[in-house]
Amino acid sequence: MTATVCKFLLFTLFACYRCDDNYTYNYTPTYHLSPLISPESKMGWMNDPNGFCILKDEYHLFYQYNPESSLVPGIARWGHAKSKDLVYWEHLPIALYPDQWYDKDGVFSGSALIEDDVMTIFYTGNVNHPGKSPDHEQHQIMATTTDGVSFSKFGIVINGSDHQPNFRDPKVWKHEDTYYMVLGNSFHNSTLGRVLLYASKDKITWEEVSVLGESNGTLGYMWECPDFFEMDDGRFILLFSPQGIEPQGDKYRNLYQTGYIIGCFDYKTNLFTLTQDFRELDHGHDFYATQTIKDKCGERVLIAWNDMWDENYPEGPDGSTGQMTLARTLKLTPDGQLLQQPVQAIMDAVGRELYSGKVCRDTKVKLDNNAARIEIHSSSKNSISLVIESEGGNYTVTISYDSEEGSITLDRGGVDGVRRTKYRPTMDELKMVVYIDSSSIELFMGNGEVTMSSRMFPKGQMTARICGAKDSDAVMLLVNAIKRTVPLPNP
Ligand code: FRU
Repeated sequence: MTATVCKFLLFTLFACYRCDDNYTYNYTPTYHLSPLISPESKMGWMNDPNGFCILKDEYHLFYQYNPESSLVPGIARWGHAKSKDLVYWEHLPIALYPDQWYDKDGVFSGSALIEDDVMTIFYTGNVNHPGKSPDHEQHQIMATTTDGVSFSKFGIVINGSDHQPNFRDPKVWKHEDTYYMVLGNSFHNSTLGRVLLYASKDKITWEEVSVLGESNGTLGYMWECPDFFEMDDGRFILLFSPQGIEPQGDKYRNLYQTGYIIGCFDYKTNLFTLTQDFRELDHGHDFYATQTIKDKCGERVLIAWNDMWDENYPEGPDGSTGQMTLARTLKLTPDGQLLQQPVQAIMDAVGRELYSGKVCRDTKVKLDNNAARIEIHSSSKNSISLVIESEGGNYTVTISYDSEEGSITLDRGGVDGVRRTKYRPTMDELKMVVYIDSSSIELFMGNGEVTMSSRMFPKGQMTARICGAKDSDAVMLLVNAIKRTVPLPNP
């Protein structure tokens, strides 16, 4: 070996050691979109995904954003990011500010519609009336942009005076020559939630045409962030985030839920006839306020807020609250189950192989920079657990498949740490894919029949190991690092 090669090898070894050693483990994700942190404020809050769309071949995603604090949602702006593939994201300047009387207390959630390279946005303008009853009012606003960066507000297109105080989150689409909008609302003195359907020929004058769905008392007092779309086989999905559903055993354990109703919809009568009751879409702790579009290949793709209201997680004091889930494609099975899988493009971000092969009792895999993809194959007849733990065992998340009970459990410890749901693979093989990203874990079972999305807050380097398998020899484990796909937060 020449001296130069030796020097190079030594340097590389030293550099690798240094970079690993210098990596500061914090809660900021490296491949999930989180709020833009500006050099001035150095903090930010993100909630719902908004205005998800494709403009000139690029995906745009907006989000509820407070650049002034990571501890409170504040007065919502629309943060903005774009991507070519739903995996690598670029931040853009704030798109919408609360600068009009009708949105002065929040540019709340909404959606985007693209026609002839023009983006039209519909959102809810929120105005507070402190000390009065009701203490806020909400109207639907339209805004447009051609360059996707600067927006001009048209003003109120639906005056919500008949439906106050909770009347929000417009999702708009076009069918034939008519525009449609679903809106979340509460009625019966704000004790029951529902989704209203509006129609328009010109995007400016809207008429209420039906009630798509409503709570009979068991489905909560307010339905937020509705979405309504047709699957390839003609069935329609009403997807929404109801507030106020009581927990039932392992179901509905979060503060608020997100789930779907399936039915038939007739564009002539505007009636939605339910064929399947409400089902939760994800079974983890942190999954809310979903939004879907058809992607560039015509597949239905979904993004959710990977967080939950009122959690006060330790990321807040660190300067950044909230992140998006991975973008996921949706498929509907004949028996009415929505399957979710991360978009295929995520595989382009999969990096170095950290482990591949059968596991032995003491197999422990260090997760590079706490950003990894873990895939497990084993027999569906064996119970098995995947344990993710951080240095010194100070934080552990365990995902367990119980073959006798037919269940999958995620336990992140602490108060209310357990989420569980029924799951039995249809084949002899159990397949589990887990995405870890500093402070989040997303689990996909089988073909996406069960997903669990939860936040977690370990300190230091994380490792993964398998335990509990009777025949651990028969367990195949594949662990890969994941590359950075979102910009580095400002120092
Ligand atoms: C859902 C939600 C929406 C509202 C927005 C305000 O999380 O409450 O109903 O538009 O957040 O930030």
